[in-house]
Amino acid sequence: MLLRSYNESDRKAVIAFVVTGKQTNYVDPLAETLSTTGLYRENYVIEVNGLIIGFFQIDSKTNNQCIPDHLELHEVIIDSKHQNQGYGKEFLKELFPFLKEQYSEAAGVCLTVNCKNHSAINLYLRSGFADTGMIKAEGRSGPQHVMKKDLARLD
Ligand SMILES: CC(C)(COP(=O)(O)OP(=O)(O)OC[C@H]1O[C@@H](n2cnc3c(N)ncnc32)[C@H](O)[C@@H]1OP(=O)(O)O)[C@@H](O)C(=O)NCCC(=O)NCCS
Repeated sequence: MLLRSYNESDRKAVIAFVVTGKQTNYVDPLAETLSTTGLYRENYVIEVNGLIIGFFQIDSKTNNQCIPDHLELHEVIIDSKHQNQGYGKEFLKELFPFLKEQYSEAAGVCLTVNCKNHSAINLYLRSGFADTGMIKAEGRSGPQHVMKKDLARLD
């Protein structure tokens, strides 16, 4: 698995990603995400054997993160045809050393996840994120848990 910066030649593959059912409540279509957030978040893709299977964003610059001085992880998506094969878990294992290398000054990484998105919540908890106990009220589909992972203490 390779995590790398998104570039314009990835656009066709990324905007073709599909999520179905309840998952559509938790992420925006990527064409929309790229046009509305590209200026103030860094875009990344997740590649497996040369195939782009996922996408995520990092907010390192707005000073509007859910926890001060932390990076904020956004718009994590594994394309539906590649879900339930362990890629989400593998992505989160790769993510922390990747962020540490890309953003060596960051104290940690935080995220918000919809309180009904049990699959993602379980994945984040199993992968090293801690639930802060804080709830962010204004999520697009209801309240969201605030989670974080300390990057300073990685080996
Ligand atoms: C959340 C998300 C990123 C998880 O990605 P994923 O690649 O499906 O994750 P994994 O395959 O590692 O794990 C998902 C499930 O598959 C199971 N699984 C893992 N490997 C498996 C395998 N080889 N065979 C069958 N099932 C497997 C896991 O146990 C897990 O089960 P759970 O739903 O009970 O927790 C993906 O569902 C997604 O893109 N969702 C839509 C967007 C979203 O909600 N993003 C989060 C916003 S905060």
